[in-house]
Amino acid sequence: DWSGVALPAGWTLEVVDEIDSTNSELKRREAPVHGSVLLAESQTSGRGRRGAEWVATPGESLTFSVALQPAAPRALWPRLALATGLAVAEALSMLGLEAEVKWPNDVLIRGRKLCGVLVEATEHMAIVGIGLNVRQAGFGGELDGVATSMQLEGRGDVPPEDVLSVVLAELNGWSQRIDSDFTDLIVRLRERCALSGKTVSLQASDGMHRGRVLRIGDGGELWVDTEAGCQRFLQADKVRVVGE
Ligand code: BTN
Repeated sequence: DWSGVALPAGWTLEVVDEIDSTNSELKRREAPVHGSVLLAESQTSGRGRRGAEWVATPGESLTFSVALQPAAPRALWPRLALATGLAVAEALSMLGLEAEVKWPNDVLIRGRKLCGVLVEATEHMAIVGIGLNVRQAGFGGELDGVATSMQLEGRGDVPPEDVLSVVLAELNGWSQRIDSDFTDLIVRLRERCALSGKTVSLQASDGMHRGRVLRIGDGGELWVDTEAGCQRFLQADKVRVVGE
């Protein structure tokens, strides 16, 4: 029952039973209005980052997308990926779960992924897609030990509509801090950074890199001490922690 969802001022919520992907659907629409939230009970071809598939069992996950038209210049919109991961982590902390952000935007609890974020842009809008594990009682196969859910972390009692309300409120707030208030966002992101000090292997556009994570820079980039020296990464396809 989604009638109790609290929405930021001016935002709207549409719920559908089944769709291919809430991100794809918002992208198909000519010009969705800022704050249009589309939630699907189930997706037939949910999409993850780097072309991966995103599979979620109906009734166990929150899968939704939000069309945003930030006031910030378009060149800064990629920062929405960081804003979204942080927004979800902050929302979870309000619901009693301390979450970390694995740069750029996976949300982890105890090192396990609870939420994935896919931000895409159309001509006019940024489409922010969020897949959040709520009621899964376990994960098998290759997700065993890699994924987690609110239920597995002891907060399966929180109604999904409450999770959605808090996430949308945080998203509304943090998505407005990608321009002049970006420092606030970065400061908070550093506090929640799951990678600080860890040795990672990282797939960038020019190949694989390995090294110790130094910090998140003022522009949201990741600084890594690699064999080739100190390197900064604006984007990475895959980041894997390989040691403390
Ligand atoms: C990732 O971790 O790779 C990102 C996963 C993003 C999944 C969400 S579910 C709602 C929205 N619709 C999609 O097809 N993908 C995003």
